[in-house]
Amino acid sequence: MLTVSNLSLRFGKRILFDEVNLKFVNTNCYGVIGANGAGKSTFLKILSGEIDPTTGHVTLNTGARMAVLKQNHYEFDEFTVLNAVIIGHKKLWDIMHEKDAIYAKEDFTEADGNRASELEAEFAEMNGWDAETDAAQLLSSLGIKEESHYKCVKELSGNEKVRVLLAQALFGNPDVLLLDEPTNDLDVETIMWLEDFLANFNNTVIVGLILILQKFNYIQEIILFGTNRANWH
Ligand SMILES: Nc1ncnc2c1ncn2[C@@H]1O[C@H](COP(=O)(O)OP(=O)(O)OP(=O)(O)O)[C@@H](O)[C@H]1O
Ligand SMILES: [Mg+2]
Repeated sequence: MLTVSNLSLRFGKRILFDEVNLKFVNTNCYGVIGANGAGKSTFLKILSGEIDPTTGHVTLNTGARMAVLKQNHYEFDEFTVLNAVIIGHKKLWDIMHEKDAIYAKEDFTEADGNRASELEAEFAEMNGWDAETDAAQLLSSLGIKEESHYKCVKELSGNEKVRVLLAQALFGNPDVLLLDEPTNDLDVETIMWLEDFLANFNNTVIVGLILILQKFNYIQEIILFGTNRANWH
């Protein structure tokens, strides 16, 4: 599903990791485990393409979609709660907006008509018509009540915002899900909900965690970050 080839990262003279080769396969949940500063977040940012490695590359299977749990709690403040979840599936979100922009045009040309029907086909294929219902269900299962779904994210409490961001990452059944210390700002109830969700999730999950004594039953493979190397266990 996701392949990492000859990946190295250096910050100046410091080698964070060197020549890492890994294959993340479908249906597995991987724990990227290491102490503070070991390089977990940096590794996950390279996997998501947010930062470039010094050498090597990351390849996502053709047609596969990756979702990342966003760390900035304010990024979606101006969105409605439902939209903040749906934008987690960026391609679907872009299609919805391109479609709306075409239909809003006053001088609707034949080319616009063709483009709109192309977009409608893609939208249907992605279950676009169910997007709002699916997002609402996900939010409700995370304890965000329906009366909040059309509010702006900024109106929610910090704890609720984190759950919205979690719903955003999980929305639309991504093929690869990247979670960097997802339990950090979550309450115990949501942590339990997430553990259950991940245990039943059928695609690839890669989760960064600090070495702690907590048991994570859903993790099947561990990549340990020590000094200068990532080990496969
Ligand atoms: N842009 C950068 N330039 C230089 N050094 C950096 C940069 N980003 C991170 N580092 C260093 O790389 C190391 C790994 O950082 P990273 O945030 O990936 O660790 P982590 O395992 O996620 O730690 P934590 O458990 O604290 O989240 C740290 O020593 C950090 O100071
Ligand atoms: Mg980190």
